[in-house]
This record gives sequence, structure tokens and C-alpha cells, in this order.
Amino acid sequence: MRLLIDKDTTMRHLLTLEDWTKEQIAEAIAAARAIKADPGAYADILRRKTLCMIFEKPSLRTRLSFEAGMNQMGGHAIYYDTSTSPLGAGKETIADTVRTMCRYVDIIMARLFKHEDILEMARHATVPVINALTNFSHPGQILADLQTIEEHKGRLAGLKLAYFGDSFNNVTHSLLFACPKMGLHLSVACPPGEAYEPDPRAFAAARADAERNGVTFQVTHDAAAAARDADVVYTDSWMSYHIPKDQAEERAALFAPYRVTADLMRQAKPDAIFLNCLPAVRGMEQTADVIDGPQSVVFDEAENRMHMHKALMLILLREAGTISG
Ligand code: CP
Ligand code: NVA
Repeated sequence: MRLLIDKDTTMRHLLTLEDWTKEQIAEAIAAARAIKADPGAYADILRRKTLCMIFEKPSLRTRLSFEAGMNQMGGHAIYYDTSTSPLGAGKETIADTVRTMCRYVDIIMARLFKHEDILEMARHATVPVINALTNFSHPGQILADLQTIEEHKGRLAGLKLAYFGDSFNNVTHSLLFACPKMGLHLSVACPPGEAYEPDPRAFAAARADAERNGVTFQVTHDAAAAARDADVVYTDSWMSYHIPKDQAEERAALFAPYRVTADLMRQAKPDAIFLNCLPAVRGMEQTADVIDGPQSVVFDEAENRMHMHKALMLILLREAGTISG
């Protein structure tokens, strides 16, 4: 599987966090925090600019935070559901769809099944493309998560993040691309097997970044060991949008040892925070007392999606020369 776009493109996109440097990630976090602190200062900055939002999968947070964010900055967002498109009907290629779209809009975000498809979009796009989740990665989510962690902990470098559950997973892969790069120690606890462990490419990137930055990185099948002394405890759905529903029972049994419970939280530092990108199922990937308890920051995390999406649109549109400043 090809997971990276050809490097000869001049347009900057957000496709995976593997493509972004530590400095670019830090710039996005700083920009999101600045926008959050003074949203009025950005009220007209994207006046008359248009975002196209392509969706093959459901969404609450991503759709609303992009749309509200664009509205707050004076621009307009178009929701484009592929099920009612020539693309979805098999009547038009990705290349022709994107080449047409770029004649109308200033920036595109897409939530797709196949990661190769977002690479194909970016290959043909003359405007910036933001990956709003593919089966392989969810970069905008993890940027907002890093913002949330920095806000609550005052820093990123030197913290330990422990992730539990499904790890052949877009959120996990993006954590692997970002955490060791930003100087966080990372422990991933999941069942054995290539269907549940991180993709080898993301694993290799995390290992290389961890060595480079002198932080630890492990994938373990021992949940308690992963949680020990963690500053951040993170979990994600066991039933990602693309997982067939008939696997629910089997996966619930398989992932049960990786459920984030109050007992597991006690292995982490007493001031550890709990994150879940949402949507969440109480009693599955975490218990209700954890997600609804005092250590949970899941709604700050959800809110930060909007500040981060605003920052990403500004950064990419500035680099594309669409806006100045
Ligand atoms: N976390 C996240 O991407 O949520 P939605 O699926 O609701 O967009
Ligand atoms: N891993 C989840 C993330 C949802 C935001 C999924 O792909 O459905």
C-alpha cells in the first residue's frame, strides 16, 4: 500500500503527521491556541473563501467543527456527501472530481475509507487537502489532542501517553507519527495479531523518532504495564466506522482486557488526564466512571477540534498564497 504522496508536490496538505515536521506541528498547536484565546481577531480572515467537505463516512465533531470554524472566520463550507455524488455512483474518477472542485473552492477536507484515495485527491488538487480521517490516519484529531494535552499539562516533551485498545487504527497511527516526534513517551497496549497491532510503517516511524528524541516507545499486550506512570490515558472506539458490525461481539471480547477502567487509571499518575476522540461507548473502550469522571477532558478535546481546524485552514491557505499575512 502506498501511504505517502509523491514528494514532488509543491502544495502543502495535511495527509498524515508523518509528512509534518516537529516545527510544523508545534506551529499548528500555537496557532490553534492563539485563535482559541482571541477568536474575534480572526473573524473576517477567510471572508469569501470556500471549504469543500467531502464525506464518505459519518461525523459529528469533524463536520460541525470545520463548518462552524469556517463560518466564524467569515468563510463558507459546503458539505459534499459522496453517496449523492458522481464519484460515489462510480460515474466519475477522483482525479476529475478534484480537478473540477478546485475550480470552485479554496480548500478541501475529506473523510474517506481508503487512505490511497486521499493521496490521489492531493495528487490532483491545486488547493490544500486536509485528511479528516481515513482508515489509516486521523491527523487533525491528534493535533487537537496535542493542543489539549499541552493546555492541561503545560508541555508535551517528557510526558507519557498510554493508548489502549484497537491499535491497527487511524488514531493510533497518528499518535505513533506524532508523539515520539514531539518528545512524548508512548506505550500502546493491544491484543496480539496484525489486525490489532499498529501498521508496520507507523511502528517504524515511531521507533525511529523515539530513538532520535531519547523517549521510550513500546507496543505491549500488558495493559497495566502500559498505564504505569502515564500522564495521558487515551482510548478509541473498538468499532471504527469502517469495521463491519458483525464483528462487534468478537471484538468486544478481544479488547475487554484493554478497557480503561478506574483500576487501570490508578496505574497512571494521580493527575493523569483521560482522552477519547469520541464517539465513545460507555462499558466498552472505557467505563462510564472514567469518561464522566474528573480526569476526563474529552469535551475540551472535542472543542479543540474547531480551534485546530481553523488554525490548519489558515496555515495551509497562507502557504498556498490564497490569503496573505
Ligand atoms: N473524533 C471525530 O473525528 O469525531 P466524528 O467522527 O464525530 O467527526
Ligand atoms: N477510529 C475511529 C475514530 C472516530 C473518530 C474511526 O475510524 O471510526
